[in-house]
Amino acid sequence: MNAVEIEQAISELALQPFDAAEFPFAFLAAFGHKDTALKRLRAGNNNASDLPGGVLLRNHIHVAVCPSGGTGAGLQALRSSPATAKGKAKFILATDGQTLEAEDLTAGETIACDYPDFPDHFGFFLPLAGISTVKEIKDNPIDVRATGRLNKLYVELLRENPDWATAERRGDMNHFMARLIFCFFAEDTDIFNGEALFTRTVEQMSDRDAGNTHQVLSEIFRAMNVKIADRAAANLPRWADAFPYVNGGLFSGSAEVPRFTRMARTYLLHAGTLNWKQINPDIFGSMIQAVADEDERGELGMHYTSVPNILKVLNPLFLDDLRAQLEAAGDNKIKLLNLRKRMARIRVFDPACGSGNFLVIAYKQMREIEAEINRRRGESHLGSDIPLTNFRGIEVRDFPAEIARLALIIAEFQCDVLYRGQKDALAEFLPLSAENWIICGNALRLDWHSVCPPMGAAMRLVADDLFETPLDQTEIDFENDGGETYICGNPPYLGSTWQTAEHKADLEAVFGQYIKNWKSLDYVAAWLMKAANYIGDVQAAAAFVATNSICQGQQVAILWPLVFGRGMEIHFAHTSFKWQNLASHNAGVTVVIVGLSREPKMVRRLYSLSENGETISKQVEMINAYLVAGKNVVVSPSDVVLGGMAEMENGNKPVDGGHLLLDVDDARGLEIDSNQRRNFVKPFVGSHEAINGVVRYCLWISDEMRELAESVPALAARIEAVKEDRLKSTKKLTRDSAARPHAFQQIRQFGDEVLIVVPQVSSENRDFLPAALLAPGAIISNKCFAFLDAPLWNMAIIASRLHWVWIGAVCVRLEMRFSYSNTLGWNTFPVPLLTEQNKADLTRCAENILLAREAHFPATIADLYDPDTMPENLRQAHEHNDEVLERIYIGRRFKNDTERLEKLFDLYTKMVAKASSAKQAKLTTAKKATRKAAA
Ligand SMILES: C[S@@+](CC[C@H](N)C(=O)[O-])C[C@H]1O[C@@H](n2cnc3c(N)ncnc32)[C@H](O)[C@@H]1O
Repeated sequence: MNAVEIEQAISELALQPFDAAEFPFAFLAAFGHKDTALKRLRAGNNNASDLPGGVLLRNHIHVAVCPSGGTGAGLQALRSSPATAKGKAKFILATDGQTLEAEDLTAGETIACDYPDFPDHFGFFLPLAGISTVKEIKDNPIDVRATGRLNKLYVELLRENPDWATAERRGDMNHFMARLIFCFFAEDTDIFNGEALFTRTVEQMSDRDAGNTHQVLSEIFRAMNVKIADRAAANLPRWADAFPYVNGGLFSGSAEVPRFTRMARTYLLHAGTLNWKQINPDIFGSMIQAVADEDERGELGMHYTSVPNILKVLNPLFLDDLRAQLEAAGDNKIKLLNLRKRMARIRVFDPACGSGNFLVIAYKQMREIEAEINRRRGESHLGSDIPLTNFRGIEVRDFPAEIARLALIIAEFQCDVLYRGQKDALAEFLPLSAENWIICGNALRLDWHSVCPPMGAAMRLVADDLFETPLDQTEIDFENDGGETYICGNPPYLGSTWQTAEHKADLEAVFGQYIKNWKSLDYVAAWLMKAANYIGDVQAAAAFVATNSICQGQQVAILWPLVFGRGMEIHFAHTSFKWQNLASHNAGVTVVIVGLSREPKMVRRLYSLSENGETISKQVEMINAYLVAGKNVVVSPSDVVLGGMAEMENGNKPVDGGHLLLDVDDARGLEIDSNQRRNFVKPFVGSHEAINGVVRYCLWISDEMRELAESVPALAARIEAVKEDRLKSTKKLTRDSAARPHAFQQIRQFGDEVLIVVPQVSSENRDFLPAALLAPGAIISNKCFAFLDAPLWNMAIIASRLHWVWIGAVCVRLEMRFSYSNTLGWNTFPVPLLTEQNKADLTRCAENILLAREAHFPATIADLYDPDTMPENLRQAHEHNDEVLERIYIGRRFKNDTERLEKLFDLYTKMVAKASSAKQAKLTTAKKATRKAAA
């Protein structure tokens, strides 16, 4: 169940007469617990409660229904009940049907309220449905409620008016919803005169069977488009005349309204009973946008990006600086005035703004600073100098774009009420401004200079309709001559495999003119490029949330030289962290924040999360594209090992149509004798086999043994099948290899080596890379890399945390998996010069790791390296390995991964410089020798 559904279910429960016996089950049902589970609980089978009338659902909640007046004592009994702890209850709840008390045992928070009001605390209970919630929603359920009620209305109206659901009319439908939202807000905030003017008028003037509801609404909307001076001629019904002139584009254009059913009319009236005054424009906007999107509707009420996350972008981008200036200004009136003037000329621009949450938060934060300036200057009565039109956005979908405009209008009004008082807020609110500052369009096809013109370019918008401004009229005269522009947002991330033809065309439009290999880039990369191009010409800085893949592996080498080539620098960044809203499909996207500017004097700051989840900020000299403190360097694949380690080979590539490979049954059923088996059948190991202990075999036939093998019918048949398969190939190389059908197409080993195997693909969740030691005789697949007969200390390096962080940074990642590469990950890995003693120590470390694994035979690598259940002796062996290796690097353990990466990049930069000067010296010597010889 989503948040909206849960809110509705518990609101309905609270309206029903209290049934003591039924309440615990009905409560659990409201949170999505299935009938079958509840049946078992009801029958007592699963009920672990030790209290009379108690119901305990393990790992969830312990509920007690108490005698009248006994709620407090009931909660106390639940708290001290041994069953609560034993059943690992996360919540306890007691009620007598008049009051209700509950405690979140994990967070230690409690609630106490009258029974009918408990749905107001629905956010408190959301973790019961597996939804991790945030403070803003816990404290203020109005946004979820409003979303739920409007959703019902929206769905019902589309059912009754299918023509409004078509692509051509969806815009009208969305516009209609925006008008409704405005009316609900306006009637609860005195923007409309009198109590609940809108809802009451609809209720009184429309028939109960809803036959004329659309006409009533249409007349109300028409009134709000007629100036007071023109009212007499407009022939408005008296009841519609009570509505003010609003327009600003919101009520211009057609006043047509979809037809209502009885249900739709009821839903509308229900929505009107909410207190819209308390709406949070940033939260509500994000939630309501799902209403208009069939794919998103299942996650209704779950799209909400927390304010702290948005501030991770906005604070370092410019708000921290404004606050620092405020602090420095103290009570100096001139300095305060200058700051106010500066803020009045700041533009904030979100080129993928959704329903405008970044813009709304930026606006609200700036208003807070301005209010403090006015307070210190004794000018609290003054109106705001911060123009709403300086908060610009581009959004491709029309409903979020509509909502973004509305959200900003609501935010402005709420700030005016807060800082100037209701009277002044009302006096200046209507009519709405007709300017358009949120563009509905594709940000990657629009010229950002025309959406957000460079300062001084007075391009005037000639729009007369806020909500229907065509794209070619987007220019607007910003009040920021000489001011700054801050680009921000959370543009869409989409890896190359998920992109549609349109996405690819967008990427090509942005990158095609500069590079050929743009196809591997994530969609979000285009926003960084557009920002870099924009900042090149304008006094601006940008910061985006983006998937961390653009700062890892191969994308770095494609994207960042271009961005840096525009004169950009990363002036702040936040290293990888999970960006969550409540939507289940979005749980756990790993993101980074990257701040771009071309202001070299700016302080650079690198933010990261500590192990206990706190944000750490560090001032650094430079930030590279991997978001590591250090010089700009792009790690490129190398054919040779730059440190003094062993060479890592690729695996053997069969290209055999499957005829040389055997699973256990194939191998067992092969009609050959034991001698032939010993000679030709070998264990075959790829990533999957090495990690999960899966057994597979292959036929491994040397050229010398070919004849012998072909004399065995079972083997001859397979060899022949390989030949036929290869001959059918369109590739010349494969057809050529049909001449040697007894063998793999690419062979990298003899087959008698001791192997240290490194899987190509492995889960990022493990704390160490899963390398394995294999006895002679195994053949590795091309899904693996391997050291052949190499000293064991190489394995100690592969198994280290240092190597893990390096691979995570420089190799390609496939979603949450590492994709290992010998040329990019191993050959480039910086290792200090190792002494013989170092090598001996590391060899012992590797042996200890192997012995620790052996103690758990037959556990597989996957079993042993599950981070939740990793055996203690193995963890200790790795700890010791890290201790020994890290002391070789810096004489002590590294404090964290950030420090590890900094050291590795520093060493890499030096290593590459050394390698290139050695190459240079070699070339010069060679040239000199040639010249000498010629002379
Ligand atoms: C990840 S959401 C972020 C929206 C909002 N800031 C939030 O946190 O919910 C990305 C937004 O970009 C919009 N979008 C996607 N492609 C776009 C494009 N080419 N141009 C403009 N907006 C786009 C999506 O519709 C979506 O609203």
